[in-house]
Amino acid sequence: MMNYSIIQIPSISSETGCLFVLEKQERLPFEIKRVYYITNVKNDAQRGNHAHKQLKQLMICLGGSCDIVLDNGVSRTTITLDMPGKILYIQPCLWREIKNFTENATLMVFASEEYDENDYIRDYEEFKKHVGQGII
Ligand code: TYD
Repeated sequence: MMNYSIIQIPSISSETGCLFVLEKQERLPFEIKRVYYITNVKNDAQRGNHAHKQLKQLMICLGGSCDIVLDNGVSRTTITLDMPGKILYIQPCLWREIKNFTENATLMVFASEEYDENDYIRDYEEFKKHVGQGII
């Protein structure tokens, strides 16, 4: 099982532009304790390269686009974030690699917990062991 979902939100659009709302319930599946955003990423750079033990995150590419590769220790899938109404909800224990940033991309992340380096798994083999697939 791949512990993620795509939350598609409608825009409130007029000739003056588009507005997107995230409110409680299905669009905000956890209480947000932290917000960060990533910009200025070189097209050939790869970020992420880790999993989280407990953290839940919502990711939105506000402008431009980027690819999120998700890996549950068995299989991989790639999600392209290229619209402000397309939100990726990542639950714990998924390895992620973030790449193919366009020049103008801004990736915004809402997180369920404050920053805690102890919640990270930054070694892929350790991740495989953590999810119980690494023992031959
Ligand atoms: P990291 O989570 O590895 O970034 P990415 O997944 O985008 O590649 O974090 C990069 C650095 O920033 C690392 O030294 C930890 C620091 N950091 C914070 O101090 N606070 C935060 O909320 C985040 C997300 C990272």
